[in-house]
Amino acid sequence: MSRFYVTTPIYYVNGMPHIGHIFTTVVADTLARYRRSRGQEVRFLTGTDEHGQNIERAAENEGIRPIELADRIVERYHELWKILDISHEDFVRTTEDRHARGVEEMIQRLVAAEDLYTARHEGWYCPSCETFYTDKELVPENRCPVHETAAEWHSEENIFFRLSNYQQPLLDLFEQHPEFVQPGTRLNEVRSFVESGLRDLSVSRAGLTWGIPFPEHEGQTVYVWLDALTNYISALGFGSEATDLYDTFWQGGDERLHLVGKDILRFHAVYWPAFLMSAGLPLPTTVWAHGWWLLDKKKVSKSVGNVVRPDALIERFGADSLRYFLLREMVFGQDAQFSDEGFIERYNSDLANTLGNTVSRLVTLSRRAFGGQTPPLSCDDNPLIGAAEEAVVGFHQAMGELAFSRALESLWKLLSQANQYIVEREPWKMIKDESKRDALARVLWNGLEATRIATTALLPFMPQVAPKVLAAIAGDAENGDLDWGGTPVDAELPESGPLFPRIDQKAYLAEIAAAAEAESSNEQARQQAAEMEEPSDEGLIKIDQFFESELRVGTVKLAEAVPKSNKLLRLEIDLGEETLRQVVAGIAKQYAPEDLVGTQVVVVANLAPAKLMGVQSRGMVLAATVDGQPVVIRPETPVENGTRVS
Ligand code: MSP
Repeated sequence: MSRFYVTTPIYYVNGMPHIGHIFTTVVADTLARYRRSRGQEVRFLTGTDEHGQNIERAAENEGIRPIELADRIVERYHELWKILDISHEDFVRTTEDRHARGVEEMIQRLVAAEDLYTARHEGWYCPSCETFYTDKELVPENRCPVHETAAEWHSEENIFFRLSNYQQPLLDLFEQHPEFVQPGTRLNEVRSFVESGLRDLSVSRAGLTWGIPFPEHEGQTVYVWLDALTNYISALGFGSEATDLYDTFWQGGDERLHLVGKDILRFHAVYWPAFLMSAGLPLPTTVWAHGWWLLDKKKVSKSVGNVVRPDALIERFGADSLRYFLLREMVFGQDAQFSDEGFIERYNSDLANTLGNTVSRLVTLSRRAFGGQTPPLSCDDNPLIGAAEEAVVGFHQAMGELAFSRALESLWKLLSQANQYIVEREPWKMIKDESKRDALARVLWNGLEATRIATTALLPFMPQVAPKVLAAIAGDAENGDLDWGGTPVDAELPESGPLFPRIDQKAYLAEIAAAAEAESSNEQARQQAAEMEEPSDEGLIKIDQFFESELRVGTVKLAEAVPKSNKLLRLEIDLGEETLRQVVAGIAKQYAPEDLVGTQVVVVANLAPAKLMGVQSRGMVLAATVDGQPVVIRPETPVENGTRVS
């Protein structure tokens, strides 16, 4: 049995999911369901990307710990995936231990391949992308090309990956396996990026605490993209004892497909295969980059501030209507516009009219003519047979190319043909004529059968509604047969209500405009109330609490390295007391003993004593942390030893 592994990107947890996030997961789910129905052994993975500066900052803004923020957003993802009936086998979080094990194993392999080294790293950095950009890549005023927000200048000591060594191997890969990047136009983009030269990539960050500590490099954290990309194999058990899934779906899998948005293609089609080559591991077979959902021509995104949330649409139209819209409206690989008008038009024309009306017309006529049952005769000679065969061939072909919209078009063409076939034969007139009973039976059975085939093929797209449609026409959701002839004769046809009630577009648009207006005036009222409120005491301390710390100036009389530590210095400081104070400070990398002896520093003098590398420290030297490096605080002019700082 062929083994198919499909993944979505793992989503950042600094905001609630919007339709851009839902889209890739719905696509992956549809494909996973389709492949299962074709008898493949499927593993479908999704998850969340929880480390990095973005998440740290978002949590800080809310005054909570990053993991609390992550837990909350992850909960929302779980809820949504349940509502949308997403059939993933696994959900990985980068804060899980199993993931850290995978990342550590990956790093060990990069070290073994001698592809890592330490150097200073300076450049323009976009915290939202968590990546460095060259001057050329930035848009005017040093702004990030993706987010158009101001890039920040970063300068720090980092661990680098020898990406430059992989330029030729990557170009060879694109040459030998052009299917590695899909669609083809994207392959050209990636190829010219690689051809223009690859610089080594910094794979650690200093001064970032929310992440996986870089093994053997104190103070360095694994770069979020090296961390995040490894999820695809850590979730299969890479780096652990239990590697069954890894062996089955990665090492021994037939297809390893990453579905990603075009904005993160470079990470998946350049960095990730380079890491894997270095580690001596198999590569994904394809990285498929889809386009963006746009609203008013701009990418739907939190940083642009134009997010489309799924909640109201799901509540009003049902989860499967949203799934259908996303898969039908976007030509996979290109950008697509979202609009409420567009959504209703699709819903009304495709679901309420073509599918809903065809089903209800057939069921009503059949029930009326044949005592609440399907017709008593089947038929194997009529124009719908050829139409159905053609639709099924077109459907499979489109699914093979991940052309979801075209796959649905094939099915809707068949539904329209079935509808037209019925309209032309006017079965409502035949009902009154006893001599046309057999002909009537065949016409209605043919209509039902064509609808059954289209709806059966629709199961991976609409996993909640398609079974209901099938139940309404005496079809069987368990039997995914797309060959002509599956509709039973003389079977019970239950009475059913409308499957897709038509929506009055004007009324609906007025309703959502009013809701948006109410929301914005509520928001204004909330803001006004917040401005009028007394400033809250939360997070603040009283002056006497501050004075509980005894900060004093003292002169360093002696400084020496603490044995076996490259970070700690032992200082003896004159704080105006009878004896010198022994204080241990973590500043050895930045300050030589001679930089300190004879100079004045500020000491927290009433700190409880502690032992550092076996040396007792009675106090702490104050320093500012700049890019992860300590800068010692000193008085501007000499003051008497022991002077209090306040
Ligand atoms: N955490 C990284 C991915 C790491 S994968 C190892 C990330 N997260 S994200 O939450 O910002 O984006 C996740 C996915 O959502 C990306 O594929 C991105 O392209 C997609 N989308 C976000 N907004 C989108 C649209 N408006 N339209 C379509 N997809 C877009 O990047």
